[in-house]
Amino acid sequence: MNLQSASKDQLQQWAQQLQSEYETIKAKKLGLDLTRGKPSTEQLSLSDAMDGILKGNYLDASGTDVRNYGGLDGIQAARELGAEMTGVPAANVLAAGNSSLTLMHQAMSIAYLYGLNGPESAWNKQESATVICPVPGYDRHYGVCEHLGIDMVTVGMDQNGPDMDAVEKLIKEDDSIVGLWCVPRFSNPTGVVYSDEVVERIAKLANIANPNFRVFWDNAYAVHALSDDAPQLLNIWQACQAAGTEDSVLQFASTSKITFAGAGVAFMAASDANLKGFKKSLAFMTIGPDKVNQLRHVEFFKADGALTAHMNKHADIIRPRFDSVLRHLEAAFGDNELGTWESAQGGYFISFDTQPGLAKEVVQLAADAGVKLTPAGATFPYGKDPKDSNIRIAPTVPTVEQVDEAMKVFVCCVKLASVKQALTQA
Ligand SMILES: Cc1ncc(COP(=O)(O)O)c(C=O)c1O
Repeated sequence: MNLQSASKDQLQQWAQQLQSEYETIKAKKLGLDLTRGKPSTEQLSLSDAMDGILKGNYLDASGTDVRNYGGLDGIQAARELGAEMTGVPAANVLAAGNSSLTLMHQAMSIAYLYGLNGPESAWNKQESATVICPVPGYDRHYGVCEHLGIDMVTVGMDQNGPDMDAVEKLIKEDDSIVGLWCVPRFSNPTGVVYSDEVVERIAKLANIANPNFRVFWDNAYAVHALSDDAPQLLNIWQACQAAGTEDSVLQFASTSKITFAGAGVAFMAASDANLKGFKKSLAFMTIGPDKVNQLRHVEFFKADGALTAHMNKHADIIRPRFDSVLRHLEAAFGDNELGTWESAQGGYFISFDTQPGLAKEVVQLAADAGVKLTPAGATFPYGKDPKDSNIRIAPTVPTVEQVDEAMKVFVCCVKLASVKQALTQA
């Protein structure tokens, strides 16, 4: 289907065919959902053995009774699990409650209100504070900034990660820039793994940035590969050590998409100075994390290679769903300009770009035909995609058959919207 070279007659014919295909789909009154970036029941069930795993033994290796208050850093063995996931020594890992998003919100709030390096370092001491958001990206990151009244400025993403020329230019030219959001492995939503060069350039940003600048390195999908040969991520902690910039990066991870999304363990990994600044405020918020849950996780993953083996089981469940999405996209748009996407090798999403100006319409058409998609614009700050072209596809929750059905509808909607647009321009 080449819209550019098609005659008006041809476009009209396609439009009629697609409209009738669309009406047939609509009549089926489907109820399918590709919006939710969360584990399916089948995935959650992989961790059911955690329930009761402690068998009444509530003492960790150091003899601490995990049922009691205390231990702001989390238990040692949980910090070691966090170290395995982040590539940072356990001494620099804090094991917390169930949500890394909470840790990110806390870290950004503390940086903004109180300063991670004493009161003078607080971002609110500046006339304005701006955080760089690579787009498309994770809507809840934008939500954190919006909630705190922190300005956002966008840079594009390509197959290597954020556009680093743009990031460096912004940092050099604008002293209000105090942060950069990153989802470095299997990015939400593009699935991109940052290249070594990008990681190294990010590690060096502190050399040109405002001294209170921090990278929010949200490695939510650190161990979520779909195949053994998925790209690895360069260790940013080591890259920062080489550049002498350890204080510039705050790393986050969690077991939300490893064990239970609502009852996992979250981690923050950072330099001694950053952890000290963070904990100074954290101590006012909690007497300590849920150490019982931390110990359950430690027990569950204590065997050598247990985490990798467990993630392979997740991959086996998720892979057919991703394959289905990619197969449909390739068949429908592999040889034309109607859409582009990255073939994600891990994570939870596939990011699709329509021709400019069509994402909202495609999402609406799909909704009217019984297929829910993430609202167009959600992958941009303030919900505004300037090109109105990005759509995030989240295939983990539906069954493979449902993904297959939903993708037929999606393809029809993209084609229909594209042909209609071409007709208005013909
Ligand atoms: C990039 C990213 N970060 C963080 C989260 C949420 O993490 P948590 O469950 O640890 O709060 C998600 C969930 O979808 C995510 O996609």
